[in-house]
Order: sequence, then C-alpha cells, then structure tokens
Amino acid sequence: MTEAKIIDGKAFAEALRKRIGAEVKRLTDYGVQPGLAVVLVGEDPASEVYVRNKGKQTLEAGMQSFEHKLPAETDLNELLTLVHGLNKDPKVNGILVQLPLPDHIDEAQVLAAIEPSKDVDGFHVINVGRLATGDASAMVPCTPLGCIMLLKDTLGDLKGKKAVVLGRSNIVGKPMAQLLLAEHCTVTIAHSRTENLAAECAAADILVAAVGRPEMVKGDWIKPGATVIDVGINRIAAPEKGEGKTRLVGDVDFAEAVQVAGAITPVPGGVGPMTIAVLLRNTLVAACLQHGRDMPDI
Ligand code: GUN
Repeated sequence: MTEAKIIDGKAFAEALRKRIGAEVKRLTDYGVQPGLAVVLVGEDPASEVYVRNKGKQTLEAGMQSFEHKLPAETDLNELLTLVHGLNKDPKVNGILVQLPLPDHIDEAQVLAAIEPSKDVDGFHVINVGRLATGDASAMVPCTPLGCIMLLKDTLGDLKGKKAVVLGRSNIVGKPMAQLLLAEHCTVTIAHSRTENLAAECAAADILVAAVGRPEMVKGDWIKPGATVIDVGINRIAAPEKGEGKTRLVGDVDFAEAVQVAGAITPVPGGVGPMTIAVLLRNTLVAACLQHGRDMPDI
C-alpha cells in the first residue's frame, strides 16, 4: 500500500493569506481598511499564543488589529460594555472573543451580544441559523471552513461522498457537518456515545476527527484511500525527547493512518494554520458586506 498524500495546510494557508492581502489592498485603496478586534480575558497561555499570532497575521495582511486584554476577574457587564462599543465602532469590521472565557462569565451571553455581521467566528445563533438554512450571508466558523477548503483542494467536488464527523462541538463538529451537507455529502456525526464507532468511521470517504483525544483514531478505523482531516491539537508527554519534553499530536494516530488513508492532514501543519487564515478571510468578507462591496472570491 502506498502512503497517503500529506495535505499541506501551512502552504495552503500562506497562499490564502497572500490572496487576502491583495484584496485587502484593493479595499483599502477604495477607502476601507478592514479591522479585526480580538478580546482576551485572563491569562490562559495557549490563548495568549493564539491572540499574539492573530494580531501579527492581521497586520501582515494589511488590516488593522485591535487587541483588548482584560484581567481574569473582569465581570460579565464590563465585557458586554466592551463588546457593545466594538459593535458601534466603524473601524472594527470583525470581533472575536477568545474562548474559553473564565468560568464566572456566561459564554452564551457574550456571544449573543456580538453584532452578527461582525461575528467573524460565526458563533452567534443568527449565524448558526444562517449556515443551517443555506443563507450566503452567514459568517462561518473558521476551522470547519478551513477544513472544507483543504478537502475541496484535495478532492475537487465532494458531492455524494460519505463523510463522518467525529465530534459534536459548536465550534467544529456541528458547523463542519453543516458545511459538508451543503457540499452534498452524506453526513454522519459520530461522538463518544456512538455505537460501533470504529465501524462508523471506517465507512467514511471523508473522515474529520475533532474530539480532542490524542491519537484516538487508529489505522483500522479508516477506509483504504479515505481522506482524513485531523482537527485535534493535543500536547502529550514525549519522554523520548528528554525529561519533561512534550510534542503535539492530533486525534488521529498518524503513523498508522498514513499507511491506510489516501490523503491526510499532519499535526502540526495541517488544519491548524488554516484557522487564522480563514479568520482573516472572514474579516475581509465582513468588511465587504458592511460596505456593500461584492464578496471577493477567495
Ligand atoms: N478558542 C479555540 N478556538 C477558537 C476559535 O476558533 N475562536 C475563538 N473565539 N476562540 C477559540
């Protein structure tokens, strides 16, 4: 059996960011420089890394970046006041509140306060509903949209393919299933309570793993020749690299899967780099829609 093609998300994301940069320049020359506001509450180290990278890549794409770092003890009302201000600010086309929020803040209330046309995460119930009903003005969650882009680049038309989404989160699993359905796939959402999980996965032409369990999907869960998209980013101990060392792995056992799949995303370097690139794409699209400009085809 030949080894799977490795889907290079890093290269795809770089090319996407280049195309976005060119469209941002066109829009800026027209008089509208897109702006993205990112809100971080507390000091979660992983979130701080994400937010720093978002800020850097936003500026590199020629957009304005507004970072709001609030202390962990910020209360709901303070956060809502900030969001309401960003909703009204014409320089801000996109708003992202980094999740998870501290436990004392009701996430649903914060997401509901974001103006839907600026909701570049696509987490507001209005955008969830728009995606589910096929409304083209939906803001679509970044990670699943990035997965669809990689799938189309790898397979072309997805019509009629059997897709299994492993995971049912609001951020990835559910919107992923909606997007695959919109591409005319036959979609199954599988999760921790699914009976015969391995057999369900092994029926898939397209398998998207988004459960957050390191290397859970084994080689015999994969149909020979299937396309495997690994959304997981799990840090595990790596004693082979030295004491206290760690490494990143996905939700798929890559060493096994690469022997069976037709194509597979690596971790790192697969889905991960797509998320911020699509966030920039969503911010550009939001700015175009807010100013009555045609949506760029990127
Ligand atoms: N935390 C982990 N992923 C995401 C994401 O896509 N958006 C936001 N806002 N927070 C996250």
